[in-house]
Amino acid sequence: MSFKEDFVWGTATSAYQIEGGALQDGRGLTIWDEFSHTPGKTRFRDHGDNACDSYNRIEEDIEILKELGIKAYRFSISWTRILPKGTGEINPLGLAYYDRLINALIKNNITPFVTLFHWDYPLELYYKGGWLNSDSPKWFAEYVKVVVDHFSDRVQYWVTQNEPECYICNGHEIGRHAPGLQLPRKQVIRAWNHNLVAHGLAVEVIRKNAKLKPYIGIVSCGEVPMPATDSEEDREAAIQAMFNKNDETSLNLSFGDLLDPVILGKYPDRIIPFLPPNYEKDMETIAQPLDFIGLNLYTGFYVKYNVKLGYIRQGEIVGSAETSVEWKVEPKCLYWAPKMVIDRYNLPIYITENGLANNDWVSLEGQVHDPQRVDFIHRYLEELLNLSEEGYKDKIAGYFHWSMLDNYEWARGYAKRFGLVHVDFTTYKRTIKDSGYYFKKVIESNGNIL
Ligand code: NOJ
Repeated sequence: MSFKEDFVWGTATSAYQIEGGALQDGRGLTIWDEFSHTPGKTRFRDHGDNACDSYNRIEEDIEILKELGIKAYRFSISWTRILPKGTGEINPLGLAYYDRLINALIKNNITPFVTLFHWDYPLELYYKGGWLNSDSPKWFAEYVKVVVDHFSDRVQYWVTQNEPECYICNGHEIGRHAPGLQLPRKQVIRAWNHNLVAHGLAVEVIRKNAKLKPYIGIVSCGEVPMPATDSEEDREAAIQAMFNKNDETSLNLSFGDLLDPVILGKYPDRIIPFLPPNYEKDMETIAQPLDFIGLNLYTGFYVKYNVKLGYIRQGEIVGSAETSVEWKVEPKCLYWAPKMVIDRYNLPIYITENGLANNDWVSLEGQVHDPQRVDFIHRYLEELLNLSEEGYKDKIAGYFHWSMLDNYEWARGYAKRFGLVHVDFTTYKRTIKDSGYYFKKVIESNGNIL
C-alpha cells in the first residue's frame, strides 16, 4: 500500500494566525485586528498582534520544517503587508519579508504553496463595503498582480482563497468571525458571488503574468456527509448532501456551493434565488480552468436516504470521540470527501488541511506528548491511503497537516492547539511534539508505516 511516488507531504499555516508583527514594518490593519480588539468577540480578548511571532522568527521556523522533513509549506500572504490600504501604495518591507521566507524555503528544498487570501481582509477596503462592493473583485486582482509579478519567478503553487465558505458564513451571516456581520441572505450571497468573481479574476491574473508555470487551485471545506450504509441509495444521499444541500435553516455554505460554480460553472439550485440580477454574466470569469482542488477536512457525519428530502442526517453516537473544539473524530471523511470530489470534478486534490485541536502542554521532562494526535494522523491517513489504493492514486496529490505550529485559532484564541509544534505564547519557545516526530516518520516512508 502506498501513495503516489511524488506525493507532497506538507504542513500549513496562515499569516494572521502565526505572524504577529501587526504594526511592524508598515503592515496595514485588517478586519481581524479590529474584530479581535472589540470586547466580547474572541475568547479572553485574544488577538493576533504577536501570535507566534513568526514575522521575527521565520528562519527558526524553517529550521523546524527542515528537521521534520517537510517537503512543502502552505502559508498565506498578508494582503496588507503588501498593500497596506488594500490597493494603491506597495510596501517594499512586506515584499521583503516574503522574499526571505520563500528564498529560505527554496534553499531548503521545501516547495512553497502560497494562499493569496486567508481571511485577513484589509480594513480600509472593508470600510468601502468589503466583499459587498462590486469593485471588490478588482481590488483583489490588483493585489494578486503585485504578488504574482514579484514572486512567480519562485512560486508555482497558488491557492486563490482559503475556505471562502467559512469566511463568508462565519463573517457575514453568523457573525462569529470578522467582520462580525449578520446580514440577510441576499447580502451574504452578494458577497459570496463577488468572492467567486475575485477568485476567477485572480486565476486570470496568475495565468497571464506568472513567470514559472503556475498550478492554481482553490481550497474548499465543510463537514463531510458520509453514507450511513453501503447501499446505493445512501451513497447517493451522501453525494446530494455534499453538493446540493437541502438545509434551509442556515446557508452553511460548503463543498458544492463553492466547487460547482467554480468548476462546473453552475450555482446549486438553493443559491440561485439569492444571487444578484444578471449574475450569469460573471459565470465565465468564475469558472476558470483549475489545476487542483484543495480540501480542508476535519470531520464528517452520516446521512441516510430519505424519499422526501433526499437525505437526512443521522444522530451522533453518544460519547463518541471528539477533539477539544468538539469536532467528532471521523477518519472516513478522508476517504469519502476526496472520492466524491474526484468523481465529480475529475481534478487532482490536495488535502490542504487536516488535524485536530488538543489540550497539549510541555511535560515535566520538557517534551510534549500528544498520543491523540499521533493516533488521529494514523487513522485519517489510513483512510486516504485506502482510497489511493482503489484506483485514485494519481489524483491524490498531497497532504498538508494543520498546523505546523500551535497558533491563533480565530475567535477561540490560543487555548486550542492544532500544532505539530508546541508554542509557548509568552516566550515563543517552540517544542516539537511527539506527533511531529511521528509525522516525520510517515513522510520518510511515504506513508508505508501506516
Ligand atoms: C480552517 C482554517 O483554514 C484555519 O484557519 C483554521 O485554523 C483551521 N481550519 C482549524 O479550525
